[in-house]
Amino acid sequence: MAAISSVLLQLCSSGGHVVASTTLYGGTYALLSHFLPRTCNITTTFVDITDHEAVKNAIVHGRTKVLFFESMSNPTLNVADIPELSKLAHEKGITVVVDNTFSPMVLSPAGLGADVVVHSISKFISGGADVIESAVCGPVRLVNSMMDLHQGALMLLGPTMNAKVAFELSERISHLGLRMKEHCRRAIEYAIRMKELGLLVVYPGLEDHLQHQLLNSMANKGYGFGGLLCVDMESEERANRLMHHLQNSSQFGFIAVSLGYYETLMSCSDSSTSSELNAKEKALAGISTGLVRMSIGYTGTLEQKWSQFEKAISRMRDSSTLFEIEGFGIRGLIEPLESTDITLKHLLKLFHGSGPPRHPWSRPMISLHFSDK
Ligand SMILES: Cc1ncc(COP(=O)(O)O)c(C=O)c1O
Repeated sequence: MAAISSVLLQLCSSGGHVVASTTLYGGTYALLSHFLPRTCNITTTFVDITDHEAVKNAIVHGRTKVLFFESMSNPTLNVADIPELSKLAHEKGITVVVDNTFSPMVLSPAGLGADVVVHSISKFISGGADVIESAVCGPVRLVNSMMDLHQGALMLLGPTMNAKVAFELSERISHLGLRMKEHCRRAIEYAIRMKELGLLVVYPGLEDHLQHQLLNSMANKGYGFGGLLCVDMESEERANRLMHHLQNSSQFGFIAVSLGYYETLMSCSDSSTSSELNAKEKALAGISTGLVRMSIGYTGTLEQKWSQFEKAISRMRDSSTLFEIEGFGIRGLIEPLESTDITLKHLLKLFHGSGPPRHPWSRPMISLHFSDK
């Protein structure tokens, strides 16, 4: 956040305007929508950055200074068309700032046209979840201006990296490429297998992802398509139950909001890293309540870890029951927490999700017969 806030403060003065993606890390969204307008009179228009006409229309001549987006969005994993967005921003004289936290090594936004790249180092670059740091990568002129004695956001606000931490981090950069390759190798393998299990998987490495071809055209070859994937469990309760089994029944990973660690980390974005967005903003950003974001780690072997995933899924399967109300064409899942006291009212609540069950772990089946009463 230090990198993002410093660079925006450096590029925009009071009265300045930013055009930003509707889908951003919750902290960045709060900075742009609440903090910067209140403290600095810097305002933001949020747009769907896949709609390039909307991006153009949001730019206010003379006021807009920055186009800001994430190369791979948190948590929805949309991929930005960095060359096209940079081109249209440059035609209007605007600086392009890209947050590449989700895809170091995989994408090189500066090579694709971005002016400034920011990273949360606390994630993949550190790899150890043991430091909270960030980096601004940009032209010498910008970096020097940020350190200016009288006008520099870094000089005057003070988010300067501790020299010892900087040294320690520099020692980890040489194996970032190897680590990213392994994060990505496992992420695509798990994404394919999870999809085969019938889960609703979002992963830009899958061919059915809307921006798969785009990512393929921009990605540095040999690294893969990113270390994060999402599984949409369609409700917060199911999301929490999946994460519970993955952590507590099979030790597949940890429930934690960070990412880029050597262990797998999982969080339900709606109630954690995107909780700064209100319901309407989350809907616009495409963040559903059951979305589980997973940052895939690389401890153990791929097969050992996959068997832990399967074990958690079978625990879920064992603990849910398929019900069918004959004559009404109604089928649904009764989750374990709900199965103790089944009332008609209770079932009616479940009918919202009626239709063929979408989850393959729904094995046991009960049929319910109602009398006229
Ligand atoms: C895409 C993205 N950018 C920036 C940040 C902020 O990082 P930090 O907590 O290191 O300031 C995060 C945190 O999760 C993030 O996911």
